[in-house]
Amino acid sequence: MPNRIMPSLLSADFANLQTSIETIPSADALHVDVMDYHFVPNLTIGLPVLESLRKITDKLLDLHLMIEDPDRWAPTYAEQGAESVTFHVEAAHAPIRLARELRARGARAGMALKPATPIEPYAELLPELDMVLIMTVEPGFGGQRFLDLCLPKIERTRALLDATGGDIWLQVDGGVSVETIERCAAAGADSFVAGSAVFGADDPDAMVNALRQMADA
Ligand code: DX5
Ligand code: ZN
Repeated sequence: MPNRIMPSLLSADFANLQTSIETIPSADALHVDVMDYHFVPNLTIGLPVLESLRKITDKLLDLHLMIEDPDRWAPTYAEQGAESVTFHVEAAHAPIRLARELRARGARAGMALKPATPIEPYAELLPELDMVLIMTVEPGFGGQRFLDLCLPKIERTRALLDATGGDIWLQVDGGVSVETIERCAAAGADSFVAGSAVFGADDPDAMVNALRQMADA
């Protein structure tokens, strides 16, 4: 299974997003963090920025919605050209209906879990999904320390996905770096978000390739 490195634009230069994106041609996707000051104590970007990004890149746009009421807002991100839209299950009112609405709009449907949220209650709805995102920090900010206590959940999610079958991606997000990516890969992740590790590097594209190499090893 190919591993994917998905740099988070949260650590890019918001005044020069296009320039930042041009520094990472090897990225498999661009991870876009949408925050609303309600689900998380931070505010970032929304649909207008997605529209602008869509015009300047052909890369897969991987939207991570850290917002309240994703049932209401997430489908519009799919309509605006995001190939992958991930909602937090803690915020969703009807996750199965929402996943189906995202797929009906042509997007991959992703479901995210905060560090303290278990995967087991959601085992039955995995066939409705194209990706599960296991947060390895509390969502809201880049540059936080990786939470090792999330590793067993990555392993359990891997086992549930293998039992489900199909090609459901298993993404990790938060504190992913050369220090931690091997542990995530060993636990069964195949899609790796990295913000500060990539954009804080002297050569962001070399870091993308270094991370991929470590994940593949
Ligand atoms: C945090 C965001 C992450 C963030 C990760 O809530 O979901 O995508 O950018 O940043 P790093 O890689 O610096 O932990
Ligand atoms: Zn994210």
